[in-house]
Amino acid sequence: MNNFTYYNPTKLIFGKGQLDALPNEVNKYGKTVLIVFGGGSIKRNGIYDNVMGKLREMDATVFELSGVEPNPRVSTVRKGVEICNREGVDFILAVGGGSTIDCTKAISVGAKTDTDIWDIVTKKEHAKDALPFGTVLTLAATGSEMNAGSVITNWELNEKHGWGSPFTFPKFSILDPEHTFSVPRDQTIYGMVDMMSHVLEHYFHQTTNTPVQDRFCEAILRTVMETAPKLLDDPENYEYRETVMLSGTLALNGMLNMGYQGDWATHNLEHAVSAVHDIPHGGGLAILFPHWMMHVLDENVDRFKQFAVRVFDVDPTGRNDRDVAIEGIKALRNFWSEIGAPSRLADYSIDESSVDVMADKTVVARPEYGNFKKLTREDSVEIFKASL
Ligand code: NZQ
Ligand code: ZN
Repeated sequence: MNNFTYYNPTKLIFGKGQLDALPNEVNKYGKTVLIVFGGGSIKRNGIYDNVMGKLREMDATVFELSGVEPNPRVSTVRKGVEICNREGVDFILAVGGGSTIDCTKAISVGAKTDTDIWDIVTKKEHAKDALPFGTVLTLAATGSEMNAGSVITNWELNEKHGWGSPFTFPKFSILDPEHTFSVPRDQTIYGMVDMMSHVLEHYFHQTTNTPVQDRFCEAILRTVMETAPKLLDDPENYEYRETVMLSGTLALNGMLNMGYQGDWATHNLEHAVSAVHDIPHGGGLAILFPHWMMHVLDENVDRFKQFAVRVFDVDPTGRNDRDVAIEGIKALRNFWSEIGAPSRLADYSIDESSVDVMADKTVVARPEYGNFKKLTREDSVEIFKASL
């Protein structure tokens, strides 16, 4: 492995009833609070009322930014920045999934600078400070609750970019599995695909001697796959929700990739698709990942063989390595199809006419991307065509 420094300052507060910790945690940062949430699920499932009740216990003055879109937009971030500046907000509380949390991260930085936040998202400028913020997670998927990353879309430009900074770790995140009971079936599936994809982005790297990290990755993949069908049959089962929620956080809190860099080409491809077509992130990943795998397989057949054998129990006895590796990729596709994830861009009515524009988006930020194998615009075209 390579040398590394690991630092993750987010306080993780996990389990049933842990919302009780909210007033104490927020109170450390001030009493003027902006709560940020999405399109209304938290009003329907009661989480909004419970959070407001907790904020009243600490006599907070609360402002609200609602309507954060799935695939959050920079226009919404700007609205949040304006509220923070106008009202002198001390602390921001994100209540929702990855989109709400990512939007909150951008607001927290935008509120502490005169630079337009899009210049920071596109890395023309860097974040220098941020308002403190915390999260109450309501959907297990992105890991945004315990990392410093954020993904923001500019709908006028049809661009979607990931960015991050040392200032955008949540101060705390409250994870009560019961808060995810109401997540609809499709979002539950996308969430599980997303967390598995984060593990896969890590797993496919070219650094040698990472046995502990490999087995952490394999454990999370196998655990999510074992739990997924049971959870989909019994969506209010606390233990299944609990298992999946912890898996999502561990998949992208930096623990898995100590000592090496993951790939991230498939995320770049997916962000290009959702920048143009606004599809759910996990749905796009389910379509693209097996095609990326086939595209890069020959870079390191051994790694794909290991994946097939250890994650899907493919029997390698007497068989050629490449065939074993391909069986693993097929097994991943079958598993995602079995739980109801999409498998073709056509499932979102995306056809050949979009391939060029989506391929352009994959190289807006840089001409090459991905670490397992460096990919170019031509590779993007091939992978998108295979995914139609
Ligand atoms: O908006 P509301 O009404 O709240 O409904 C949401 C939304 O429609 C709903 N939902 C959330 N919690 C719910 C619920 N519905 C019922 N009950 C609940 N408890 O679910 C829908 C999707 O929410 P969203 O936050 O968009 O989903 P997710 O957590 O999958 O986030 C996706 C975004 O995160 C980015 C993606 O690109 C995408 O923009 N990512 C962020 C990452 C990060 N910061 O580290 C990494 C990821 O790879 C990803 O790129
Ligand atoms: Zn993701």
